[in-house]
Amino acid sequence: MLFKKKIIWLKLFESITAANNQLAVGKVTSIQVGKKKVCVAHTDSGFFAVNDKCPHNGASLGNGFCTNEGSVVCPVHRYHFDLKTGRAKSGGGYFVQNYPIEVRDDGVFIGFEETVWNLF
Ligand code: FES
Repeated sequence: MLFKKKIIWLKLFESITAANNQLAVGKVTSIQVGKKKVCVAHTDSGFFAVNDKCPHNGASLGNGFCTNEGSVVCPVHRYHFDLKTGRAKSGGGYFVQNYPIEVRDDGVFIGFEETVWNLF
């Protein structure tokens, strides 16, 4: 196989304490991470990240809000997207890219899957 998938981990927050201080439970925000702008949500179940751009009409999901049922809600037309799967729970068959988040001793990280050459 010429290509393989690899996850690149980038730091979102310096620590879990910093993450909790900057983003309270029930809140969402937009964060620029490298070349990507992501929407980060903090729910009762932890932190979640999806692409910030709403797949319906391009609004910033980080300007929306999250629900107790684990959705991020777009601020423009109120479509709901499941934070775990990225699937629209309302408003048709839309899908927003979701990204894994890991809490480590040295910070809170987001993972971006990349395709790389697999030469050896
Ligand atoms: S722009 Fe997000 S639901 Fe329409």
